Amino acid sequence: MIRGFCGMVPQRAAYPCPAARYTRHIGIIPYLGALAYHEIVNILPMERGGLRMIYFTGDMHGDRGRFNAWKLRWLGEKDALVVCGDFGFLWNGSPEEEEILQWIGKRRYQVLFLEGTHDNLDLLERYPVEEWNGGLTHRITGNLRHLIRGQIFSIQGKSLLALGGGESQDASFRKAGENWWPQELPSEEEYEEAVRNLERVNWRVNCILTHCAPTSIQQKLDRNYTPDRLTDFLQMVKRRCQFDYWFLGHYHRNCVVDDRFIVQWEQMVELQWE
Ligand SMILES: [Fe+2]
Repeated sequence: MIRGFCGMVPQRAAYPCPAARYTRHIGIIPYLGALAYHEIVNILPMERGGLRMIYFTGDMHGDRGRFNAWKLRWLGEKDALVVCGDFGFLWNGSPEEEEILQWIGKRRYQVLFLEGTHDNLDLLERYPVEEWNGGLTHRITGNLRHLIRGQIFSIQGKSLLALGGGESQDASFRKAGENWWPQELPSEEEYEEAVRNLERVNWRVNCILTHCAPTSIQQKLDRNYTPDRLTDFLQMVKRRCQFDYWFLGHYHRNCVVDDRFIVQWEQMVELQWE
């Protein structure tokens, strides 16, 4: 259900965002960053109280300013902001970083993220594992959580499969354990966990959340990316699984591919169901 529409959203990608078309039938409202947000909010009167919304955004790379998006201030405990990898706030474990994490954890809404290729996975694994809305998470602090690979969560009555990770294109220039981690691609156990959980729900979820795209979608986005075990696994999921929307990051662009693949960078997309 669409609660409002802000007009066409400027896109950076070669694949134009048919915003008017996809918002018409799936109830997604796209936003571009904090500045554009102000303009949009002026157009769209906010509905207060009882709204249960999920916002999705792409690679943050530790940019705290992304949380300044005006509309995020209206979100409450039943709302969530999902970051599709390259969260970037877990990087060096410094006291300054810890302070920012504490600040993020104090947001009124849930902040959920997947791991990408610019997240310190050794640090991430030190946080306690906690069940949350039907799936396993790393509880970072307060309302800040990492969605563990292969888990299916039930948020606001909808099911979401999370499968973060990706392959660094510049791995040869990085140093293991310092700015690159071998576990950036899921392990076979994590793939098996995803399959087990998908079988449990008969391969039907509302949303799929990943950092990378399935191979065929990645090829449409940029042929310079080489398919890998993860993109091929996601290709299998794309073929077998019934889903409404697939949100992903990684490619640093905002666009829609094949109607249901919502590629996110600094854009924020609001998703509402009735
Ligand atoms: Fe990134």
